[in-house]
Amino acid sequence: MIVCICANVSDRAIAQAVREGCQSVDDITMKTGACSGCGQCRGHCQAELQAHAAVVQAKALTEHCAVG
Ligand code: FES
Repeated sequence: MIVCICANVSDRAIAQAVREGCQSVDDITMKTGACSGCGQCRGHCQAELQAHAAVVQAKALTEHCAVG
């Protein structure tokens, strides 16, 4: 689904950019072009960053618990 109409960027492209290391909306903008226009998609980019951070944190906690 296209979430950035201005730059024709999909939710998948944004999620992939985050998985590949983007850590801020500016990073996502530089990699995909999303959020380079009106800014309506900024919330989606921020939500994607937060969701990814939560997954990374959960994985770290799971690994920590498995080791300890
Ligand atoms: S919808 Fe993404 S910048 Fe306008």
